[in-house]
Amino acid sequence: MKPRKPNAISRRSFIKGAGAVAAAAGLVHVRPASADEKPLPPGVIEKLGPEATTIELNINGKPATLAIEPRVTLLRALREHLGLTGTKLVCDRGACGACTVHLDGKPVTSCMVLAIDARGHQVNTIEGLGTPSNMHPVQAAFVEDDAQQCGFCTPGMVMSVAAVLEKNPTATTDEIKHATAGNTCRCGTYPHVFAAALKAVKPGRATKDV
Ligand code: FES
Ligand code: FES
Repeated sequence: MKPRKPNAISRRSFIKGAGAVAAAAGLVHVRPASADEKPLPPGVIEKLGPEATTIELNINGKPATLAIEPRVTLLRALREHLGLTGTKLVCDRGACGACTVHLDGKPVTSCMVLAIDARGHQVNTIEGLGTPSNMHPVQAAFVEDDAQQCGFCTPGMVMSVAAVLEKNPTATTDEIKHATAGNTCRCGTYPHVFAAALKAVKPGRATKDV
């Protein structure tokens, strides 16, 4: 066996160090305040699991109660526990944007959020954005412009575009491209996506340079 260099980092010390950094950065789960739960005192870390625990979420404006293990992501809670399969599972590691939902109006990759951390927050999914008979303007524009091929990236794209237009109804092409930078389309439908997104922009701006 090779002698260890004096400054070499062992796997064990790396994991211990990484844990300390995560804790310092606030990544250790601390129960958020919600309407019917008292917030924990500062610095107190909630201990949950590993067995299933009952939690309440607010999904598309409605309360949802589910029993899940604390390790379950928001994405899997939506798809596997609540039957909301419009949010897609592709990479499961925050790299593709297919699982984008809104958390308090902000787009997040739901595969990177634990369901328990969504307590006390408003979660909106593609199902809450509009229905086939009453589509959100972004959904309607995507249908009109045929802005999908296989459709796996589409719910995430729509959610990212809807979020930026909610914040900035007159977003420019560049702002839309920036807002969807984390959404990967393996079918390469980007020109149709941007054209559809620009259609959903409020009137009053030029739809140029797609
Ligand atoms: S499935 Fe979440 S980012 Fe790809
Ligand atoms: S339409 Fe297939 S991945 Fe975008």
